[in-house]
Amino acid sequence: MYKIKLLIISSILATTALYANEIDPTTDLIVDSGLDQVKENCTICHTGRFIVVNGGDKQFWKAKMKTMQSAYGLWEIDEKSQERMLNYLAKNYSQKVNITLDD
Ligand code: HEC
Repeated sequence: MYKIKLLIISSILATTALYANEIDPTTDLIVDSGLDQVKENCTICHTGRFIVVNGGDKQFWKAKMKTMQSAYGLWEIDEKSQERMLNYLAKNYSQKVNITLDD
């Protein structure tokens, strides 16, 4: 009996975790509002891996965005899209993660 209860509880927890962190299959990035802007402006040139392995607050991501603009040819992005994108990045990618590129 006890084992069955545990099984049920753990499968509920696993399902919740899955939904909380749903991953977009084309970019490998977390599904959340703002992902559309990231898809339009970031994962055109490179995969989401560059985003996943980096991490920081809004200032950090703003600086990265500026670097993409000054060094790699990222176009101008309107204020509203910038806000959505930077909020998304700061919320979902606030910490550096150590993974190898061929994971
Ligand atoms: C016009 C092409 C282009 C676009 C658009 C672009 N990037 Fe990049 N990005 C690059 C290139 C080129 C590199 C360098 C790859 C390398 O170092 O080999 C890079 C590298 C990176 C890196 C890793 C290197 C570092 O400085 O930390 C991050 C993080 C990154 N991009 C984030 C972003 C984000 C966030 C966006 C959207 C706001 C974005 N990129 C949009 C071209 C682009």
